Amino acid sequence: MTHASTSGRTAPGTPAPTPAPTAASRPDSSDKALYGGKSSRRITVRDIAAAKGRGEKWPMLTAYDAMTASVFDQAGIPVLLVGDSMGNCHLGYDSTVPVTMEEIAILSAAVVRGTKRALVVADLPFGAYQESPTQALRNATRLLKEAGVQAVKLEGGERSAHQIELLVSAGIPVMAHVGLTPQSVNAFGGYPVQGRGEEAAQQLLRDAKAVQDAGAFAVVLEVVPAELAAEVTRVLHIPTVGIGAGQDCDAQVLVWTDMAGLTPGRVPRFVKQYAQLRTALTDAAKSFADDVVGGAYPAPEHSFH
Ligand code: KIV
Repeated sequence: MTHASTSGRTAPGTPAPTPAPTAASRPDSSDKALYGGKSSRRITVRDIAAAKGRGEKWPMLTAYDAMTASVFDQAGIPVLLVGDSMGNCHLGYDSTVPVTMEEIAILSAAVVRGTKRALVVADLPFGAYQESPTQALRNATRLLKEAGVQAVKLEGGERSAHQIELLVSAGIPVMAHVGLTPQSVNAFGGYPVQGRGEEAAQQLLRDAKAVQDAGAFAVVLEVVPAELAAEVTRVLHIPTVGIGAGQDCDAQVLVWTDMAGLTPGRVPRFVKQYAQLRTALTDAAKSFADDVVGGAYPAPEHSFH
């Protein structure tokens, strides 16, 4: 982002303008921007809070391995989520429910190793925090100590407020997640839109306020009507991270395999595919196979003598 430049001329009689601040003293929002900013140090939750103050929108993607994480980090994505969506997208489960602490810890450590700048947030998987705030603290601590993530995410509004309070009081930044919470797929009977109707909308607002009051630094709003997400975003002082929640959230997150066209079959309506990796990888694998079968690979330049 650039600031409007001055012409250097003044109309007769107009008081001389105060000298332009030097580069060192000028508060330059482009230096601080979460995406496109100049700083190469790791993003912190304070940077995230400051972005809401500036009205800056920011992107978040999931990542489950070091190499993909390094691509997104170098592309400037400021926040990477080691989501329990790894269950569907990486580990071959049919939901996020089976994902274990062990799996989250190993893949989170890989994502941290692959990044230099992004704030890395790890999901607490199903069964790792619902029992009690102390259980949540034990598992979140493990992700910070063993995997080196900077924050954790957990699902639930009012029902998870005590967990969030304890983690935050222990110095662990928490991203909350309300609306469609995929770990509750068995209770929801699928993945329906949340917050429709007056009563459900009021509950979603209460949930969002509860996680903010408990100390969460941001809250994911998943698959809720755009108007409701806009209202939550207006009312909260912490940023909202939308997924299927319209344009007015402070940030937007997508599962990276959806975003890049690697996920097979139909993707949810809110997904925009920015590449067709499934087709590209299929073509690459077939070309390799054809070359091997036909004797075109390896060629002399790929061989040692
Ligand atoms: O697990 C995940 O990827 C998530 C995002 C979809 C927000 O929770």
